[in-house]
Amino acid sequence: MESRMLTKTGNTDNRRVTVKVPASTANLGPGFDSLGMALSLFAWVEMSESRTGETSFRLYGEGMDGLPRDKSNLIYKVAQLVFDEAGVSVPELDIAMYSDIPLTRGLGSSASAIIGALVAANALIGSPLGDDKLFQLATALEGHPDNVGASLFGGIVVAAWDGESAHYARIEPHARLETLVAIPAFQLSTEKARHALPSQLSMADAVYNVGRSSLLVAALAGGELELIRHAMKDRLHQPYRAALIPGMTEILERATEFGALGAALSGAGPTLIAFVDAASSSKAELERFLQETLRKEGIEAETMWLAPCGCGPAVTVEQLPDAQAVADAPTLLDRIKGEVKA
Ligand code: HSE
Repeated sequence: MESRMLTKTGNTDNRRVTVKVPASTANLGPGFDSLGMALSLFAWVEMSESRTGETSFRLYGEGMDGLPRDKSNLIYKVAQLVFDEAGVSVPELDIAMYSDIPLTRGLGSSASAIIGALVAANALIGSPLGDDKLFQLATALEGHPDNVGASLFGGIVVAAWDGESAHYARIEPHARLETLVAIPAFQLSTEKARHALPSQLSMADAVYNVGRSSLLVAALAGGELELIRHAMKDRLHQPYRAALIPGMTEILERATEFGALGAALSGAGPTLIAFVDAASSSKAELERFLQETLRKEGIEAETMWLAPCGCGPAVTVEQLPDAQAVADAPTLLDRIKGEVKA
């Protein structure tokens, strides 16, 4: 970690920071608000101190048109939170973002944006905040630790938050674990999907979920892929959200007949995720089953095979010789052209 004296106005030394952050799937079935896994689908956040004295935004990717391009922008606000925590001031920023993570679909797009902004802003001022501090800030912003934990630490994250502090343990995903996601064409806000949940559960359902969630964590940690089908079951949130996603119940009940290790609603949905052994010979059948089940309900969905992402954010810090060099450097889109989803 770089350690240097920071002046009260944050010294950004003509740095330009680019952070590549993974998407995530949360809950993994029974682990509501506590299990998350990073996925090989990415967003990029670029940040430098503004050279014009005014904050600017360049936001690219599907759904980005509707996002604010003023100081109410999430990336800007999260960056200012980092500067406040570090006791420095960098009021004007040049921010660019490109995302392949579809918005409001249950693949952790907001968590990726929060982590991208936290990590980029921290790196811009010489990384005074450690990862745990970033995790605490991200969890408080997001309201649950599962997606942000996975995007920040990579791999599978088991996390608990009591409203004040978050704790986590990380599991390395099994080398043969792969996922198939079916992303419906419609958006579903986390707020709406959380409103569908009851305020109380029976003791029997609580015991059911504790058992499944514990078994799932043990199966993932021990690489016992065959146990996933028994563990990836839930009575805490999925049954209540099923009405919002036609076809979901059939997919969750029958995905294992088509070769999945297990299936779940991804986060708050509407995306559905199947865990699959990469060596499976029935991948095409499974993909067809997901597509056809949703289509029967009148839902168009994009399917994508995604590997778990073992790493958290990849940070590039360019130390450009002067402000003009920052202005002249290739743009974010030019630099990531070879890496984005075709
Ligand atoms: N654990 C959260 C939920 C994830 O299921 O509501 C939402 O992103």
